Amino acid sequence: MTATLSNQQKNYDQTAWQKGYESQREEAAYEITEVEGQIPAALEGTLFRNGPGLLDIGGTPIKHPFDGDGMICSVTFRGGRAYFQNRFVRTEGFVAEQKAGKPLYRGVFGTQKSGGLFNNVFDMRLKNIANTNVIYWGKKLLALWEAAEPHRLDPENLETKGLDYLGDILKAGDGFSAHPRIDPASIWDGGEPCLVNFAVKPGLPTRLVIYEISPSGELLRYREHEAQGFAFIHDFAITPNYVIFFQASVKFNPLPYVMGLKGAGECVKFEADKPTKMIVIPRDPARTDVQTLEAEAGFVFHHANAFERDNQIIVDSVCYQSIPQVQPDLDYKNVDFNALDPGQLWRFSLDLETQKVTRELLDTRCCEFPVVHPAYVGRDRRYTYIGATDAATGNAPLQAVWKVDHQGDNAQLYSFAPSGFTGEPIFVPCPGATAEDEGWVLLMVYDSARHGSDVVIFDAQDFTQPVATLRLKQHIPYGLHGSWTPEVFVSF
Ligand code: FE2
Repeated sequence: MTATLSNQQKNYDQTAWQKGYESQREEAAYEITEVEGQIPAALEGTLFRNGPGLLDIGGTPIKHPFDGDGMICSVTFRGGRAYFQNRFVRTEGFVAEQKAGKPLYRGVFGTQKSGGLFNNVFDMRLKNIANTNVIYWGKKLLALWEAAEPHRLDPENLETKGLDYLGDILKAGDGFSAHPRIDPASIWDGGEPCLVNFAVKPGLPTRLVIYEISPSGELLRYREHEAQGFAFIHDFAITPNYVIFFQASVKFNPLPYVMGLKGAGECVKFEADKPTKMIVIPRDPARTDVQTLEAEAGFVFHHANAFERDNQIIVDSVCYQSIPQVQPDLDYKNVDFNALDPGQLWRFSLDLETQKVTRELLDTRCCEFPVVHPAYVGRDRRYTYIGATDAATGNAPLQAVWKVDHQGDNAQLYSFAPSGFTGEPIFVPCPGATAEDEGWVLLMVYDSARHGSDVVIFDAQDFTQPVATLRLKQHIPYGLHGSWTPEVFVSF
C-alpha cells in the first residue's frame, strides 16, 4: 500500500473487486484484536455503517446491490480499543424471504421474484430493505431507506425493534430519505442542532416534503413543495437559510415495471438535452418565495455540501453526465467501468438575484460518497473527504480516500490499490479541536487479497499512512452510508 498522488494506469483486477459483493450471512460481535498501528486513545464513540449484506436470496442472485437487504455494522471505540458487531435489519421482507429461501418481492433495481413473468406482473409491493444509511438521532438508532419508514434498532446489540414513525411525524407508507443533513447550529432554533430531511412523494406534480426535527425528536418545521414533472432525487443540500434540490430531467415509463419486466429504477430515463432544475426553498417558515433555477448539469446522487455567499448559494456535488446505469442485460459485477461516465466533483454557483447558475469542474478524478466536517454542514469550509479512484481520470472502482482542499494546495490521497477497495469516509473531529482538519477519517476497506474487511483510521491532517488498520475476522460487502456518534453503547 502506497500513497499515490497521480496514477493514470488501471490498477485493479475486476475479479478481485467482484469478491467484495459476496453475501455475508454471519452475524458477529467481538473485540477487534488484530490491529496494525495504534487506535487513538481520544477516539471515543460509535461508527455505524449500513449497506447490502446479502447479494443473493437463498442462492438466487439479486439484480443490483441497491436491492440487497440492509446489514448494519457498528464499531465502538473506547480507550484505544475497538469492538465490532454486524446484524441484519429484520425487515418484514427479510424475515419472510429467509424463511422461504427465495425472493418473494421485486426489487426497485430489477430483482424479480421466482416464478417468472407471470409471478411478477402487476406486483408493485415494495420491500423496505433498510439498506442505505443508519443514524443516531433523537435517542434512536434508525436504519434508513428512502422509499419507506425507518427501522429502529437497539444501539447496543443492533437488534431490530420495528418500523419507527418518529413519534407521529410519519404516517404508514411515508418515505424518509436516507440523506438527512444535520444543521450544526440552526439559526431557527437558537443555535441548537437540527436534523433536516426530506421525502419525495411521487405523482404529478411530485411533492417534496421537508421535515426539520430537534435533537429530542420533536418536529420543528414541516413544508411541502410541488415540483413539476417526475423527480428522482436521492440527496439534497442545506444552508442556514435554504434547502436545495437538484431535479434532473428524467422520464419515467412505468409500463415495463407494471408488466413485471423491469424494476422501477430501470424505467427511469435521463434526458441529457434538458436542463436540471435547482429548487431553492427557504427554511424560514414565514417565507414562501421558492426559486427554481435551471442549468446544464447532469445527474447527481450526492452533494458534498452547500453554503451561502452574498447573493449566491454554492453547491458542491458529485455529478455524472448521465445516470450511471448498468445495461439491463448485464450482471452488475461484469460492468464495464470504461463505458460509464465518471462521477466528478463540481461546484455550482446559484445566483439568487440573476437566477443564473455557473458551474466549474473541480477535478477530473472519479469519486463518490463525499462528506465534510459535521460543524461545517451548510457553511463554507476548506475540505471535503471522499472515496476516489486510484487513477486520476476515467471510471473505476473506488480504491482511495481523498482529502479535497477547496482553498489551498493541501489535497491528499491515499490509495489501497491494487487489492483494496473503499467507500464512504467518515470525518470525526478531535475533542477540543480548533483546526477544520483536526480529527480522524474512518473508512471501511475491503481487502481482496485476504477476502476480509479492514476499518482504517487516518489522522485527517496526514494521509501518508493510516494511524491504525483494524482487521475484521470477515468481509463486509461494499456498503453505502454511515454515521458517527460520540455515544458509546457497548461495554467491553
Ligand atoms: Fe446515497
